[in-house]
Amino acid sequence: MFKSVLKRSLILRNLKSFKVPVSSHIRRIHVTSNLWHGEYEWQDPKSEDEVVNITYIDKDGNRIKVRGKVGDNVMYLAHRYEIPMEGACEASLACTTCHVYVPPEYFDKLPPSEEKEDDLLDMAPFLKENSRLGCQIVLTKELEGIEVTLPKATRNFYVDGHKPKPH
Ligand code: FES
Repeated sequence: MFKSVLKRSLILRNLKSFKVPVSSHIRRIHVTSNLWHGEYEWQDPKSEDEVVNITYIDKDGNRIKVRGKVGDNVMYLAHRYEIPMEGACEASLACTTCHVYVPPEYFDKLPPSEEKEDDLLDMAPFLKENSRLGCQIVLTKELEGIEVTLPKATRNFYVDGHKPKPH
């Protein structure tokens, strides 16, 4: 114990005396919408041109209308409005708790699913032909008026019981 404390303080002292040019401390951090973990979805549309209306239909058939915007991730937007779409892996394509059904007229407007999304959906309960993962759907103007329906249940094989809260 004492040795490890001593070792640590020696390392710290060496670090303090180590001269590093100031510029090397500055790191540029590239931020993409994925790294914001839903913060983008908490911003209101800046103009009507950006608005994309979406309706979530929960497992009890309740219809929740949301005024989304271009670029919103359907799963993070659901979190903002407390719609019970879990999203256990936070869009890292490691669960199926963001499973939704998309009506055919909108399904064809979505970019095709990646192989990883298809593999996950294969394990999802209540899989249908129009199943997609909500975290892989990003709103575009073309999707104006979309309705997504939540399945009766989802399976959380990522982290049991983990429910991410909106940030
Ligand atoms: S939140 Fe896990 S795959 Fe969508």
